[in-house]
Amino acid sequence: MLTCQHDTKQPGAGYRNTTRMNTEVNAPTGDALEQARRDAQADFRDLKARLPRLSDDAIDLILRDARSHYSWKDIPVSDELLHTLYEITAAGPTSMNTCPARFVFVTSTEGKARLAKSLKAKNVDKMRSAPVTVIIAYDTAFWEHLPYLFPHEDRRGLFRGKPEYTLSTAFRNSTLQGAYLMIAARALGLDVGAMSGFSNAAVDEEFFPGSTLKSNFLCNLGYADESALFQKLPRFSFDEVCSFA
Ligand SMILES: Cc1cc2nc3c(=O)[nH]c(=O)nc-3n(C[C@H](O)[C@H](O)[C@H](O)COP(=O)(O)O)c2cc1C
Repeated sequence: MLTCQHDTKQPGAGYRNTTRMNTEVNAPTGDALEQARRDAQADFRDLKARLPRLSDDAIDLILRDARSHYSWKDIPVSDELLHTLYEITAAGPTSMNTCPARFVFVTSTEGKARLAKSLKAKNVDKMRSAPVTVIIAYDTAFWEHLPYLFPHEDRRGLFRGKPEYTLSTAFRNSTLQGAYLMIAARALGLDVGAMSGFSNAAVDEEFFPGSTLKSNFLCNLGYADESALFQKLPRFSFDEVCSFA
């Protein structure tokens, strides 16, 4: 299932068209379930045998030495790479496998102009010079897809008619999915610069009118021009913010 799309379409209208989404319910039972469990356990054992941990260099690339970027080289990002990015992002965990995030890859000049109207002035050039700006959004009707995503038990009743719980679940898990996207992008050699300096209401009005989608945050993607970097800011030490219980 692919939920990314080009910004030349109307994302809001598209997302409510559930014919785009996979609705196949596949909950194996009996021998098929036993086999599926054995396969999953063998896959996990193989993975850990192949790669017990990332190298320190790999950890530096995705988090320890990685930076937020504000200026971009004029190097395009292929659609194929964005598909790979989505595939890796989507593998990350969400509660009850709800997968509420929806991603709009804004790549066209027209799409950038629509987005620019919502941004704080200081963020406009950062967004315009990036080859891709992703709108990380969430679908407040995410729970309607649970028969596909969580097929062994119908959990839709937990969300139906419960807007506060639905919203907190959508926001928490789409934020996580946005973070997975940032780390996956770095793992693929891309650079990222997240932005929350914009009007969510204005983005929702422009990109998701009349739909159940809401914007969470934005993330520029591309290959960074490091000449715009300043020094890395401090972080709290373990003892300052961690404790044991
Ligand atoms: C969710 C989020 C929103 C952010 N919003 C903005 C923004 O609107 N404008 C901006 O210039 N930087 C923004 N940043 C970048 C942060 O200021 C930056 O990540 C932080 O200072 C740490 O810098 P570093 O990642 O280079 O260590 C944002 C980062 C995150 C994760």
